Amino acid sequence: MNTYKSLQFLLLAYLATARGDTFDYVIAGGGTAGLVIANRLSERSDITVAVIEAGDDVRQDPGVQSIDFLFANFNASINYQYPSVTGPELGSRNLTYRAGKALGGTSAINGMVYIRGDKAQYDAWEKLGNKGWNWNSVFSYYKLGERFIAPSSAQIEVGATYDASVHGDSGPLDNGFPFIISNGSFYDKARATWESLGLGPITDLNGGDPRGFVAAPQTLDPEAGVREDSARAYYTPAEARTNLKVIKGTVKRITWASGSGKQAVATGFEYVSPSGAIIKVGARKEVVISASAYRSPLILEASGVGNPKILKKLGIPTKVNLPGVGESMQDHNIVAMTYNLSNNITGRIGYATMPTAQDVFGSKTSSLAASTFKKLRSWAKALSATSDGAISPSAIERRFRIQHDLIFNKNITIAELFPTNTGDGGLLEQFWTSMPFSWGSVHLSSRDNIEVPSITANLLSTDFDLDMLTAVGRLSQKAYATAPLTDLIADNSSPGYTKLPLDASDEQWATFLKANALNALHVVGSCAMLPKELGGVVDSDVKVHGTRNVRVVDASIIPMQLSGHTMAPVYGVAEMAADRIKASWK
Ligand SMILES: Cc1cc2nc3c(=O)[nH]c(=O)nc-3n(C[C@H](O)[C@H](O)[C@H](O)COP(=O)(O)OP(=O)(O)OC[C@H]3O[C@@H](n4cnc5c(N)ncnc54)[C@H](O)[C@@H]3O)c2cc1C
Ligand SMILES: *[C@@H]1O[C@H](CO)[C@@H](O)[C@H](O)[C@H]1NC(C)=O
Ligand SMILES: *[C@@H]1O[C@H](CO)[C@@H](O)[C@H](O)[C@H]1NC(C)=O
Ligand SMILES: *[C@@H]1O[C@H](CO)[C@@H](O)[C@H](O)[C@H]1NC(C)=O
Ligand SMILES: *[C@@H]1O[C@H](CO)[C@@H](O)[C@H](O)[C@H]1NC(C)=O
Ligand SMILES: *[C@@H]1O[C@H](CO)[C@@H](O)[C@H](O)[C@H]1NC(C)=O
Ligand SMILES: *[C@@H]1O[C@H](CO)[C@@H](O)[C@H](O)[C@H]1NC(C)=O
Repeated sequence: MNTYKSLQFLLLAYLATARGDTFDYVIAGGGTAGLVIANRLSERSDITVAVIEAGDDVRQDPGVQSIDFLFANFNASINYQYPSVTGPELGSRNLTYRAGKALGGTSAINGMVYIRGDKAQYDAWEKLGNKGWNWNSVFSYYKLGERFIAPSSAQIEVGATYDASVHGDSGPLDNGFPFIISNGSFYDKARATWESLGLGPITDLNGGDPRGFVAAPQTLDPEAGVREDSARAYYTPAEARTNLKVIKGTVKRITWASGSGKQAVATGFEYVSPSGAIIKVGARKEVVISASAYRSPLILEASGVGNPKILKKLGIPTKVNLPGVGESMQDHNIVAMTYNLSNNITGRIGYATMPTAQDVFGSKTSSLAASTFKKLRSWAKALSATSDGAISPSAIERRFRIQHDLIFNKNITIAELFPTNTGDGGLLEQFWTSMPFSWGSVHLSSRDNIEVPSITANLLSTDFDLDMLTAVGRLSQKAYATAPLTDLIADNSSPGYTKLPLDASDEQWATFLKANALNALHVVGSCAMLPKELGGVVDSDVKVHGTRNVRVVDASIIPMQLSGHTMAPVYGVAEMAADRIKASWK
C-alpha cells in the first residue's frame, strides 16, 4: 500500500467510526412520544435516527404485557419513583411521582386508558399563540396514529359503544376494549344511576365532547390480550430499519456548537453508558428531547437552557435565557374511595363519568364563575411569587383567564370519575379534577444529578381547586348512594361513612382531602408550547425558543391540562410534531 492509499484508508476508517456515532437526528428518551418521533422520522430511509433510552427493552416481559393494571408491577427496575413533599395544604405529605423506565416509557406501565379530552381545550392552544394547533388538526393526527378495534357484540352488550368516525383504523396504535369489561350487572346499574343524576350515556368520549357516562377504550390488543405500548406500536414495525438505532444510556446534556450567534446550535448529546462511560453522540440536523415532563426540563437546565437565577445557583452557565423551563407543571388532583360490594362483579370495569362545572356545581355555577374570575389576578400573583417571578403575574393571569373561560363558558368537562373492580369484593372509585389552577414546578436538583428532579407539587394551593374536588367528591358519593347502583354496594369501606358522611360539611371534606388527595401522574406543562412572553419553552414547531435545532416532544409541551388522561394527547401531539419536524426538510 503506498502512502497515499494508506492515508486514504485511514481517513475512510476514521470517517466510518465517526459516522457510526453521528446521526441526522438524536432523540433523548424512547418513551411514549420518543418512539413516535423515531418511527416517523426514520420512515425516510436516507434520514438516520438514534434514540438514547435509559431503560431496557421489556416488550417480552409478561408483567408489562399483562392488561391487568397492577400496582405490584411498580418495581424499581422499570419505574422511576421521584420523591416530592406537598405544601401545608396537603399536610406536608410525601408524594411519589411515577414514570416508566423502559423502551416505551410510561406507556409500558400505565393504565392504558385512552381519553383525549374536550375540543375547546385544544382550540385554546391556538388562542394561546400556537398557530395551527387546534382540535381539528390534532384530531386528524389522532386518527392517523390509531387502529381502533371495534368491540364485539358481547362487549357492546355491557356498554362498549363507539363512533367509528372519530377513530382511525389503520394507524400503528391498537386501541380497543379488553375481552371482558364486565358481564355482571355493573354497567346497567351504573348507567341508570348516572342517567338519573343527569349524566346519561354517550356513544364515544373521544370525539371531543366527553360529557356523560361511557366505557373508555384502552391501548391494548384485544385479540392477543396484551398491552399496546409505544414500543409495540411504534418501535416493533420500525425495528428492522437500518437507519434507526436504539442506544442504551442516560442523556446528560446537549453539546453546543462554539460561537455565540443569536441562536444556540446543538451538535448532539453527551450521555452516560451502562458502564458509566461518558459518550458523545453527534446530530447533524437536530436533537429531540422526549424524556418526559419530569426529565426534559432537567436536560435543558443541565445544558444551560433555563432560568438564569436557577442555573446560577446550580453553577451552570446560561446558554439560553428561558425562565419558563420547568415551570407551570400541571397535574390532576386524584382521590380514591373504596366500597364493599354486596354482589361480586366479574371481569373488568372501564367506565368513565365526566361532568361539567354545571353538573358539579348546579345553580351555584354562575356565581362561582364570577367570584373565581375576580380571584385570577391574585392566584397568578401568588403563583408567580412561588417561582421568584420566573413567569410574570400577567402572563399567568392570561393563561388562567383562558382556563377559566374553558371551565365556565366553553363548558368543558372538569372532572372524571373512574371505578375499578379490585377483584376481592371491593370497588375502587377514583375521581379527579381536570383543570386545577394550582401549578407546580420541576427542576434540576443539583448540577450533576440528571436522574432525580426537584419537584414542587403545589397541589390544592387555591381555594377553588379544593372547592372543585370537594364538589366532585360529593357527586361521587351521591352516585354510589343512588339506586340502582345501591343494589351492588354494601358499604363505603374507605374512608367510611362515619368519617365522611353523605352530608359531610365543607370542613370535613377539607380535612379528608388534605390527608388523602394525591397526584394523578398526569403531569404536563413543564416545557410548555407557548410564546416566550407567556412563559413558553417551545414554539409551535416544538422548537426550543432561542435555539436553532433543539426540539422537545412529550407531555411537557402540552401547555394546559386536558380532561381525560395524558397518554392519548401525548400520542396525538407527537404525531403532529413529527410532521412539523418533517416539514422543515422541504
Ligand atoms: C402509573 C401510571 C398510570 C397511568 N395511567 C394512564 C392511563 O391509564 N391513561 C393515560 O392516558 N395516561 C396514564 N398515565 C400517564 C401517561 O402514561 C403519561 O403521561 C405518558 O405516557 C407520558 O409520555 P411521555 O412521552 O411524556 O414520557 P415517557 O413515556 O415517560 O417517556 C420518557 C422516556 O424517557 C426516558 N428518559 C428519561 N430521562 C432520560 C435521560 N436522561 N436519558 C435517556 N432516557 C431518558 C425514560 O426512561 C422514558 O422511557 C399514567 C402514568 C402513570 C405513571
Ligand atoms: C420487576 O419488573 C421486572 C420488569 O418488568 C420483572 O422482570 C421483575 O420480575 C419484577 N420484579 C418484581 C420483584 O416484581
Ligand atoms: C418523607 O421523605 C423523607 C425523605 O425521603 C423521609 O426522611 C421522611 O421520613 C418521609 N416522611 C414520611 C412521613 O414518610
Ligand atoms: C363472564 O365472566 C367470567 C369471569 O370473568 C368469564 O369466565 C366468563 O367467560 C364470562 N362470560 C361471558 C358470557 O362472557
Ligand atoms: C354553557 O353552559 C351554560 C349554562 O348551562 C349555558 O348558558 C351556555 O350557553 C353554555 N355554553 C356553551 C358554549 O355551550
Ligand atoms: C366476593 O369475592 C371475594 C373474593 O373471592 C370473597 O371474599 C367475597 O366473600 C365475595 N363477596 C360476595 C358478596 O360474594
Ligand atoms: C367492608 O370492608 C371493610 C374492609 O375491607 C370491612 O372492615 C367491613 O366490615 C366491610 N363492610 C361490609 C358491610 O362488608
